[in-house]
Amino acid sequence: MTAPRHFIDLWKLDGATLRLILEDAKTRKTARKGWPKGRVDADAPAKDHVLSMIFQKNSTRTRFSFDAAMRQLGGSAIISTSSDMQLGRGETIEDTAKVLSRMVDAVMIRANSHADVERFAQVSTVPVINGLTDKSHPCQIMADILTIEEHRGDIGGKTIAWVGDGNNVCSSFIHAAPLLGFELKIACPSVYHADLHDLARAAGLNGKVTMMEDPKEAVRGSDVVVADTWVSMGDTDHDERLKALEPYQVDDALMDLSNDGVFLHCLPAHRGEEVTDAVLDGPRSLAWDEAENRIHAQKSVLAWCFGAIG
Ligand code: CP
Ligand code: NVA
Repeated sequence: MTAPRHFIDLWKLDGATLRLILEDAKTRKTARKGWPKGRVDADAPAKDHVLSMIFQKNSTRTRFSFDAAMRQLGGSAIISTSSDMQLGRGETIEDTAKVLSRMVDAVMIRANSHADVERFAQVSTVPVINGLTDKSHPCQIMADILTIEEHRGDIGGKTIAWVGDGNNVCSSFIHAAPLLGFELKIACPSVYHADLHDLARAAGLNGKVTMMEDPKEAVRGSDVVVADTWVSMGDTDHDERLKALEPYQVDDALMDLSNDGVFLHCLPAHRGEEVTDAVLDGPRSLAWDEAENRIHAQKSVLAWCFGAIG
């Protein structure tokens, strides 16, 4: 039996695979322009396929976009929170993986602990997709890159500024940078720095990823500015974070230092904290395209997992 195509972290894939997925997403999105959202793509690559989704944390975009994606690919989805499952009463991850592998064609998991997704994938005989963990959010970054390329062309050679907490979403940007050839400048307070293993891996691949404390230094001359919440799901030090991250708010003055840059935010946003209303709702914000692109990018991730492309 061939190994399932898991989509757990971007660094585990190669640049050619990420490029294939991105180009498939662009083609599919263009082909269905003007269609109602429930119409199935002409090739229906997930026909007869079922995706199960397990959520240990809240979600709006990931939940709805994966469900919509499966419908547009001609398949269907089964959604559950882990607390509704026997997982929530102590059934092991491994036993759950064995059972679901007999029932569905792929599993998407949003988990508190990244290690739990890895454990699930070790046993699963069907593809496992990371729908966000404490460590990474690869599906989000595929949608982000799709959005950047729609508005600014090839991401290769572009400079992305990450401003704020060096969190899970930031890690997936670090993973993608050496594979797709963009520069990443991370501005964060030293207490909330980016993952050092991720930085070392990117450096080992000759990635242009740097970390600094000054948000102005990161944003100056950049093509894209990215922010995320200062308090991620599972973080318990709310007040300390708000205090340490206060100098990292993205406002129009900061955006003005960029190279006519666009603004991205994976959402949900905490308006008045990491970003002002003026930036999020302003002409430089691509946040709403970015949210829609979760569907388009994930359709091609799913098509790749099912072996329909690549
Ligand atoms: N960006 C994102 O993953 O949103 P949700 O938490 O709503 O899924
Ligand atoms: N960093 C955020 C992203 C939410 C989509 C979190 O993990 O809560």
